[in-house]
Amino acid sequence: MRKGVRVFAPASVANVACGFDLLGFAIDGPGDEIIARESEQPGLVISRISGDNGCLPKEIGKNTAGVAASALVHHLGQEETGIELEIIKKMPFGSGLGSSAASAAAAVVAVNELLGRPLSRQELLPFAVTGEQAADGAYHADNVAPALLGGMILIRDNLLLDWYRVPIPRGLIALVVHPEITILTKDAREIIRDTVSLQQHTEQSGNLATLILGLAQSNFEMIRKSLKDVIIEPQRARLIPYFEEMQQLAISTGALGCSISGAGPSIFALYSNSVQAESGGKQITQLLENQAIESQMFISAINLKGTFVY
Ligand code: HSE
Repeated sequence: MRKGVRVFAPASVANVACGFDLLGFAIDGPGDEIIARESEQPGLVISRISGDNGCLPKEIGKNTAGVAASALVHHLGQEETGIELEIIKKMPFGSGLGSSAASAAAAVVAVNELLGRPLSRQELLPFAVTGEQAADGAYHADNVAPALLGGMILIRDNLLLDWYRVPIPRGLIALVVHPEITILTKDAREIIRDTVSLQQHTEQSGNLATLILGLAQSNFEMIRKSLKDVIIEPQRARLIPYFEEMQQLAISTGALGCSISGAGPSIFALYSNSVQAESGGKQITQLLENQAIESQMFISAINLKGTFVY
C-alpha cells in the first residue's frame, strides 16, 4: 500500500496590533489540511485541491503549498521521489487568518513526515516562509511561524528567521471575527507608506516592548495600554467596512485591545475572559449582519500546538 500522511495547520493572527510583520499567534478553529502520498511517478505534484471554489492553481510553482513543499524537496535532494499533495482548504483566503501560511506550514510538515522526518519542526520554517512569499511577494514569518510551531512568536529578524516564543498569560482569550469580504495581502501591503515619523516609531516601539513585557509578566493592564497600532491600522482601516465600530464594540465589551488580524478584513481582540469575548463576538457579528455582511467568529485560547499530524 502507498504511504500517506494527513496534516492540519491552524489559522493565525499576524501583527497583533503593534508588531507589523514581527508578531503572530495561532488560534484553534479554522485551518488547512494537506495529505501527502507516495506516488509511482517521480516528482512532486498537486493531485487535488478542494474547498477553494476552483480558485487556486495546481501548478507547483504558483501554489503556496507547492512552492513550500518544492523548496523542501529540493533542499533534501528528493526531486525524483514521487509525491502527490492533496490540499483541503478549510478556511477562506484573503481573510487575514493566515490561510496561505497554513497551507505552506501543512505542506512542509506533510512532506517531511512522508520522507521519514529528516528535519525538525524548526528547520522547516524557511521552506514554509518561501511558500508564503509566493502568495504575497514578501518574506515574513508572522503567520507561518505560529501556524507551524504553535503559540505566539516574535520574529526579531525575518531574513535571518531569528524568532522567539512569547510567554502567554493564563486566561488570555482571542476573539477573531471574519467579515466575508476578501482583501488580498498583496493589495493591503501596497497601500502602506514606506516611511514613518519619529513620533510614530517611538510610540509603536514603546507599545511593542510593553506588550511583550506585559505578556511575559501576565500583566493585563500593560497589555491593555499597549495593544495599539499607530502605523499600519490607520492606513488599512478604510479597507474594512465598519472597522471603527467593530473596534469600539470590542473595547466596550472589555477587550484589552482590538485591531486588524494580519492584512484584514478579519479583526481580532484579546480578552482576559471568555464571557466578555463571547459578548463582544456576538455584538460585532450582529453589527455586520445589520449591514448585510455575513461573518464568522472564532473564540480561542492561543493555540500552542501549531501544525499536527493526524
Ligand atoms: N504582516 C503581514 C501583513 C501579515 O500585515 O501584511 C499578512 O500576511
